[in-house]
Amino acid sequence: MRINIVTIFPDFFRDPLAISIPGRAREAGLVEYRVVDLRDHTHDRHRTVDGLPYGGGAGMVMKPEPFFEAVETLNPKGPVVLLSPRGRVFRHADAVRLSLEEEVTLLCGHYKDVDQRVADELATDELSLGDFVLSGGEVAALAVTDAVVRLLPGVLGDHDSAASDSFYEAPLLSPPSWTRPYEYRGRSVPDVLRSGDHARIQAFRERLARELTRERRPDLWAEALRRGLVDGDEHEG
Ligand SMILES: C[S@@+](CC[C@H](N)C(=O)[O-])C[C@H]1O[C@@H](n2cnc3c(N)ncnc32)[C@H](O)[C@@H]1O
Repeated sequence: MRINIVTIFPDFFRDPLAISIPGRAREAGLVEYRVVDLRDHTHDRHRTVDGLPYGGGAGMVMKPEPFFEAVETLNPKGPVVLLSPRGRVFRHADAVRLSLEEEVTLLCGHYKDVDQRVADELATDELSLGDFVLSGGEVAALAVTDAVVRLLPGVLGDHDSAASDSFYEAPLLSPPSWTRPYEYRGRSVPDVLRSGDHARIQAFRERLARELTRERRPDLWAEALRRGLVDGDEHEG
């Protein structure tokens, strides 16, 4: 697949897209990144990407023309996503959906805001990382890229590793993990994990996943109940 990122800070992406899973995926030819400098789509001496807000108020607003021209030059096939705190919160289902696309284009805002015509006329999706405000869309674009790329077939060496992650097969958190040493600072690893009894280990992990989800994410628990994936009457513990 191809991921296009339109930004005023192309350098921001150089290292993160070259290391770890996003970097390995590119080396393996499973994904191509095109990072586009928004300022390359300006036509004045100062490469201006922002202007004063109509109606007054604090902060600068990113102009529509560079975004429209950047996307028109890319001529992308798939979704054009504006990263924005006004968007729908990005979830695992969005990562799955985007990972099935041939091409995804991510638009990073900055400053006070982005001219609304970008959201209305250019973007096909507006996605938020959560209910907080970042200085720019770059961190959000990187998060979306990483979450999407790790789902591409062949990117993770061990598919089971992704399949047992939180949210993958059901709206449940993944159970916690332990490694050596068995005892550390007075805390030891649950004995069942050293029993060698795979059925018991599986049951233990599933129980922890359900308990954690019910306790920490009532929204996900309600969704799992609604979809009949868990039993509301089951006695935990
Ligand atoms: C300072 S923010 C603008 C915030 C905007 N004035 C508001 O209150 O909704 C600048 C840019 O950062 C990005 N951004 C900030 N928070 C974000 C979030 N939670 N999710 C995705 N992108 C975000 C967007 O691209 C946004 O245009």
